Amino acid sequence: MTAFHPVPLQYASRLINHGPTVLVTSSDGSRRNVMAAAWSMPVEFTPPRIAIVIDKRTFTRELVAASGSFGICIPGAAAIDMTYAVGSATGRDVDKFAQFGIAAITGPELGLPLIEAGCSAWMECRLIPEAHTEDTYDTCFGEVVAAAADPRVFANGRWKFDAGNEALHTIHHLGGGNFVRSSSTIVAKPIG
Ligand SMILES: Cc1cc2nc3c(=O)[nH]c(=O)nc-3n(C[C@H](O)[C@H](O)[C@H](O)COP(=O)(O)O)c2cc1C
Repeated sequence: MTAFHPVPLQYASRLINHGPTVLVTSSDGSRRNVMAAAWSMPVEFTPPRIAIVIDKRTFTRELVAASGSFGICIPGAAAIDMTYAVGSATGRDVDKFAQFGIAAITGPELGLPLIEAGCSAWMECRLIPEAHTEDTYDTCFGEVVAAAADPRVFANGRWKFDAGNEALHTIHHLGGGNFVRSSSTIVAKPIG
């Protein structure tokens, strides 16, 4: 059972607009996997499309190629240890969900494993095959076909970071297992 609320797809870009470290989930139907990724960004509002760098040596890349899909889960500050762990080991010979005690739900559109515990939001993405960018730059494009978020931190199409939901604030990798957490939301006012 999920406490997440669906995110209308016109707001999907906002989930990663500010550059959080994400978890990339994948499955080929018999095997599943999860890795960390710091390099992702939106590239189109409608239809919602994103780009993400997934190194060709990863097991994730193999499963993404096999299934034509990937999940993006956005960890909160409470999940930094798990995020760093799944970004520091390969799932080629071990199920990282089982190894690190990570609970997964099944995505509604593509059947991908998705993580809600410790996370603030997720997206299911259909791979947009682009052989050149995948081969040359390890950059994979995807169309977001489903999204949901924890309404305590993302509602009405916007993040709302405040002192009351710090465990759900997104995390941003500085390198070597050091992260910064999103701070409180500030709002620009008109000037001039
Ligand atoms: C915080 C963090 C961010 C990372 N960002 C990326 C990234 O953007 N792209 C990438 O290919 N690997 C990235 N990695 C490395 C992968 O997560 C790592 O190679 C992982 O072990 C691959 O797992 P797999 O072989 O099970 O797919 C990152 C690792 C960490 C810890």
